[in-house]
Amino acid sequence: MQVPDIIIAIDGYSSTGKSTFAKLIAKEFDFLYLDSGALYRGVTLFALENGMITDGDRIDLERLIPALDGLDIHFESGSKTYMGSRCIEDTIRTLAVSGSVSPIAAVPEVRAYVDRRLREFGRQGRIVMDGRDIGTTVFPDAQLKIFMVADDQVRAQRRYDEMVSKGETPDFQDVLANLKERDRIDSTREVSPLRQAEDAFVMDNSDMSLHEEVVWIRGLIQGRFGILETRW
Ligand code: DC
Repeated sequence: MQVPDIIIAIDGYSSTGKSTFAKLIAKEFDFLYLDSGALYRGVTLFALENGMITDGDRIDLERLIPALDGLDIHFESGSKTYMGSRCIEDTIRTLAVSGSVSPIAAVPEVRAYVDRRLREFGRQGRIVMDGRDIGTTVFPDAQLKIFMVADDQVRAQRRYDEMVSKGETPDFQDVLANLKERDRIDSTREVSPLRQAEDAFVMDNSDMSLHEEVVWIRGLIQGRFGILETRW
């Protein structure tokens, strides 16, 4: 299916499967996938490793904010996250980073840093980007916006399985609590809170298979851009 050079913005709650869906779209339509949460996670890792976060959410802004200017977090080899020459793709997914990322993402200067980077990456078009405020703040003019939701237990189970598959030994209740706490902080922060863009299409994938998700997006794109299906 020939999809025009558009920006597809995918927003939604934690662990609703945004990145899995975005990667599927990238593969299906030959788009570049960019994970905006990875940049917030990268900044969080940097702050943790440099002792700028204490007690889980006390952030040393006097040191962090000036350091952002020289902080090089970018994507390489497809969509792998790097800090300078170091691949941080796995490290940024640990519970330590997940536990501190929401307060970091609530800092206006951090959001300005990440937004600037995302817009640079997005200049080339033909990208699918996932996050919390892509359709509302980063690319309010994105031609296709999707807002993803799913049941809490389903989401926690997905995150739990993902961590176990990476050799971690998480506690399910901790994972569920972390997820709910992040939803709360992400939805109530002052700058760019998580919310559905008015022109976003909602997908509840609690009971959807990946194949059904692909069928859903193909139908949506066809309807939206009037494309005739040639292959099914
Ligand atoms: O999608 P994720 O779980 O990797 O995102 C990590 C955190 O980053 C999440 O708790 C909220 C924040 N985030 C954000 O505030 N805005 C975005 N566009 C993407 C992520």
